[in-house]
Amino acid sequence: APTPMIDPFGRAVTYLRVSVTDRCDFRCVYCMAEDMTFLPKREVLSLEELDRLCSAFIAKGVRKLRLTGGEPLVRKNIMSLIRSLGRHIDTGALEELTLTTNGSQLARFANELYDCGVRRINVSIDTLDRDKFKAVTRWGDLDKVLDGIRAATKAGLKVKINMVALKGVNEHEIETMLKWCHENGHDLTMIETMPLGEIDGDRTDQYLPLSTVRARLSERFTLTDIPYKTGGPARYVTIEETGGRLGFITPLTHNFCESCNRVRVTCTGQLYMCLGQDDMADLRAPLRASEGNELLSDAIDEAIGRKPKGHDFVIDRKTRQPAVSRHMSVTGG
Ligand code: GTP
Ligand code: 5AD
Ligand code: SF4
Repeated sequence: APTPMIDPFGRAVTYLRVSVTDRCDFRCVYCMAEDMTFLPKREVLSLEELDRLCSAFIAKGVRKLRLTGGEPLVRKNIMSLIRSLGRHIDTGALEELTLTTNGSQLARFANELYDCGVRRINVSIDTLDRDKFKAVTRWGDLDKVLDGIRAATKAGLKVKINMVALKGVNEHEIETMLKWCHENGHDLTMIETMPLGEIDGDRTDQYLPLSTVRARLSERFTLTDIPYKTGGPARYVTIEETGGRLGFITPLTHNFCESCNRVRVTCTGQLYMCLGQDDMADLRAPLRASEGNELLSDAIDEAIGRKPKGHDFVIDRKTRQPAVSRHMSVTGG
């Protein structure tokens, strides 16, 4: 196996997140403005270019690859990319090929995903209340997502549920969600809302610290910290009463940057070394400049050499501007 890339803080970069499209068939209120404009198609990397890019990172020691968006499954012919990337699972170069999806198209793709070597996926559901789901996603249909999850489970995929904690929106549904997830064999991960891009609402109103959630849950359940790791930023506990796992992703209340192992690439080939910083490196030009990967590889090395220590997200009344101006859908988290 190749020696992994090491950043200036001694962290090995083994996890690549690739946004395959900035488009999405939902408009979640904490993620996008209702009238988002999307990139013209010519700006976006072709599936062949995405394949080359991912393979170059794998050759440089990336062991875990997650496709994101926007919504990855709305990209035309996305399965041809996933099938092609599956070869790295077959050779053992890649430990995990996975995606984060809103689930709207899962019923259609579940079997094929399994066939391509995908074994585990993360699906975002912020509420199990049909009307509220509609309100949060603006365009989403909960029943379709639930059908998708059932199809995925039946196909043999392990499904983890992502839930963004939103004050006044889903804060009283956490227990319901936890029970539903654990009854259906899903781990649940809760996420603190992060200030990325302008949205229509005020993030200060939406922000619910997970320290509060944890304290509230502790009154009703027995939470035990466990060393379980998925390679992402979540820290997990088991819930004794349900026998399931709950993860906390706490960029605001507990910074996890010191163990960061990841970078992300946008669908236009921009490499962001940190979700919470503006610094990036263009990989599209070196990708397109030659058939070989030498220029690309050099550009990646140069960028990893300036991966920052961490983000500086804050959410409070005084800080009106989002920490970074691009939306979450640009880098897929
Ligand atoms: P696992 O492989 O299951 O651990 O997935 P993951 O948590 O790495 O990926 P997922 O796409 O499900 O992301 C869940 C949340 O974590 C999203 O809100 C992401 O924005 C957030 N996240 C992932 N990586 C980072 C990171 O490096 N920094 C910050 N601040 N958030 C991140
Ligand atoms: N803060 C935190 N999580 C977010 N997500 C989207 N936007 C934000 C945000 N501003 C979540 C989605 C999905 C994951 C990729 O990131 O709900 O689960
Ligand atoms: Fe789409 Fe995901 Fe953003 Fe919701 S959070 S609008 S599902 S990209």
